[in-house]
Amino acid sequence: TGCGGPGGLLTAETSGEVLTSALPLPRPFTVPLPVPATARPVRPGHYEVVQRAAKVEIIPGTPTEVWGYDGTFPGPTFDLRRGSRTVVRVRNELPVPTSTHLHGGVTPPDSDGYPTDLVVARGRGFRPAPGAHAHHDPAPWTLHAGARDYVYPLEQRAATLWYHDHRMDFTAPQVWRGLAGFLLVRDDEDDALPLPKGERDIPLMICDRAFEEDGSFRYPSVDPSLLVKPGVEDAYMEGVEGDVILVNGAPWPVLDVDAARYRLRLLNASNARRYRLALTPGGRFVQVGSDQGLLAAPVAHDTITMAPGERFDVVVDFSAHPVGAEVTLVNTLGTGPARDVMRFRVARRARDDSAVPQRLSRVEPPDRSAAVATRVFDFRRTGQGGGGSWTINGRPYRPGDSLARPRLGTTELWRFTGDFHHPVHVHLARFQVLARNGGPPAPADAGWKDTVDVRPYEVVDTLVRFEGYRGRYMMHCHNLEHEDMAMMADFEVV
Ligand code: C2O
Ligand code: CU
Repeated sequence: TGCGGPGGLLTAETSGEVLTSALPLPRPFTVPLPVPATARPVRPGHYEVVQRAAKVEIIPGTPTEVWGYDGTFPGPTFDLRRGSRTVVRVRNELPVPTSTHLHGGVTPPDSDGYPTDLVVARGRGFRPAPGAHAHHDPAPWTLHAGARDYVYPLEQRAATLWYHDHRMDFTAPQVWRGLAGFLLVRDDEDDALPLPKGERDIPLMICDRAFEEDGSFRYPSVDPSLLVKPGVEDAYMEGVEGDVILVNGAPWPVLDVDAARYRLRLLNASNARRYRLALTPGGRFVQVGSDQGLLAAPVAHDTITMAPGERFDVVVDFSAHPVGAEVTLVNTLGTGPARDVMRFRVARRARDDSAVPQRLSRVEPPDRSAAVATRVFDFRRTGQGGGGSWTINGRPYRPGDSLARPRLGTTELWRFTGDFHHPVHVHLARFQVLARNGGPPAPADAGWKDTVDVRPYEVVDTLVRFEGYRGRYMMHCHNLEHEDMAMMADFEVV
């Protein structure tokens, strides 16, 4: 399929082959939408989660083994306030090492989920993948036996964050098996707005999977219980997509809604799939927030294109529809069963005091002259044929090898470009999109972001703010298979 050749890629909105499930799939819109449980502290400010295997029913009537935080997929939702320092003890009872990253968190470096900073289950040995990955030899492994504490100061604006596994070379298969969940940061500014609240404020984790005949997750080439990859196929090279769309872990679910406004916190938690979301028979998304919280003013979209890792907080108004109406969230980039996402059924009339104010927050417009440095990061495949790897500026990832040393408290212009769909994610720092291909940013680029959709051969200029902590962080492609194939780089805030 040749992702090295630009021919098909310039026009293709989606990437690799889609894995096909080997069992009968449920009829869409028959499974009720689950909402993940809210995590409860063991004492104020302290939480404990256990990463473990569990059998859950994703496809009705067939059990699937997931690897989940507390054995659930998605994991529990952490519902926390800005500035409430939180300690999460993560205990690993899985057969593989893990590292947990809070995506979008302003987190001290030693709690950021560095890929070689691993928790290994008690009684399990760990040996670095021998020979398979020359790019991290020698690697500075840090091993925690059984459990470790992650510290999240949460000195940051209200936003829809998420946490997921970040283990060196194996993030993709481990997230595929279920290691992902939400962490919502709330604050007084966001609370004071008349946006939909409570039961009408719902996080939606959208991701795709494929299933084997016995109900287990289908995934190519990589046996995540092994420490060595036996080899890669093209489906793996381009990023793995499945034919089943899950929302909060349920296939094509349905939700009964009031004829009222809802705040939907959309997250694309897929390994590699991009979505262009639309509502049929009609309806608009009024975007109020981005990866890093509130926009200055709402932006109305007929469609929303989401790359892996991105979040869009949107308000959808179901009051325009009669009771009994069905509103379907579809993915116009998807084909076959992957075109449907979920359905809303307008169940009843209801009182609605919510509103979307024209002014949401103060977001200073990006000012190019604020940048004290300009750096270019080129996300590209090197090597030919079935081999090669995904690199940044021609370099496969090497832990500890920093590509940039921005100064704490400064702003830099980071230009991202590349040869494929590469959703670029920067840890710690938030940014605003300044320009796409020399022109203005797209409407979906609005606000403070931590992940940006860089399409084939595009040039995306961002203004990145380095705030919070000094130390070693990383940026990478959030196509998780690309990430595992070395499309990552360290940077060090000095
Ligand atoms: Cu969501 Cu470094 O990842
Ligand atoms: Cu990529």
